[in-house]
Amino acid sequence: MPDSNGLLREMQSEMRILGIETSCDETGVAIFDSEKGLLAHKLYSQVKMHAEYGGVVPELASRDHVRKIIPLLDAVMKSAKSELKDIDGIAYTAGPGLVGALMVGASVGQSIGYALGVPTIGVHHMEGHLLAPMLEKNPPDFPFVALLVSGGHTQLVKVEKFGSYELMGDSLDDAVGEAFDKTAKLLGLGYPGGAALAKLAENGKSGRYIFPRPMVNRPGLDFSFSGIKTFAANTVYSNSGDSQTKADIALGFEEAIVDTLAIKVKRALKASGYKTLVVAGGVSANQSLRKKLKALSKEEKVKVFFPRQEFCTDNGAMIAYVGCQRLLRGEKSNLGIKVIPRWSIEDIVEA
Ligand code: KG4
Ligand code: ZN
Repeated sequence: MPDSNGLLREMQSEMRILGIETSCDETGVAIFDSEKGLLAHKLYSQVKMHAEYGGVVPELASRDHVRKIIPLLDAVMKSAKSELKDIDGIAYTAGPGLVGALMVGASVGQSIGYALGVPTIGVHHMEGHLLAPMLEKNPPDFPFVALLVSGGHTQLVKVEKFGSYELMGDSLDDAVGEAFDKTAKLLGLGYPGGAALAKLAENGKSGRYIFPRPMVNRPGLDFSFSGIKTFAANTVYSNSGDSQTKADIALGFEEAIVDTLAIKVKRALKASGYKTLVVAGGVSANQSLRKKLKALSKEEKVKVFFPRQEFCTDNGAMIAYVGCQRLLRGEKSNLGIKVIPRWSIEDIVEA
């Protein structure tokens, strides 16, 4: 039930929300207006800093968020031609993610909210990804099946309406983005290598390396990618490291991942009876996956939606959007600075 302030806000025709994302290695800030849409967004990626270590170093991530968040906030305000006094609420990523990194966004968000006397809301990072296509001109309608593919998650979610998320399938081991990153590392592509692996695969010859399609012969909607990753390691070590071989391995790997995801998506659509598919998270930027799922949706007479390329990966816009929807419904966080590093999408409270 919305409180009296919430009811008041529900009657408010326009809400301008500042969104802050700091769950991992990207600082994202955005302003979303319930009437005018996305006004501005900025992102600072720490990727170069972590690449030196071959993965995200949590303590370095927290410190860099501290350094970048205020300058980024100033830049977003300027770009939106907004001032802090125009802000009606603050949304920040409360989880899941790295605890120290999350604490930076939560502290800044809560402090600004307190100073301005506006409500704040902690947002679930994956709900942000899942609803990122809502920022596009032609957004999906509820209900839909969502395929969430990121560095930490591979999930199929039945989304009946805003705030109602039923997990249909999940990764039993490595997430799909993680499998991309580890295989990219084996191929000498640096970190995070998902996009670089996809680029290398463009030069690959199909059929030279046939990777397994894990768990597709078993019923159910869960995923396991650690076998593909091991197969990639064995293939890399037992072949010469020339550039054509590497490209062929990259393509074999990508084809297996894309096929496996498509098979499970088809099953999830059948099981739900829904006619709309949403694909989101960092790996939804992958062009082969997009092509395959577009073809599948045509065959199955289903509509498919993706976020624009830059909103596939982490960003502040998706957090501002979700926060705005929840604040409009009268939800808000308490004053304390609380984050939830491990948080299932099924445990999001229905708005
Ligand atoms: O959603 P995201 O930015 O962060 C998490 O919440 O995890 O996803 C990052 C993941 C990384 O594993 C990255 O390698 C992968 O998305 N990724 C891609 C592509 N672009 C990013 N994987 C495959 N193909 C791409 N084009
Ligand atoms: Zn993410």
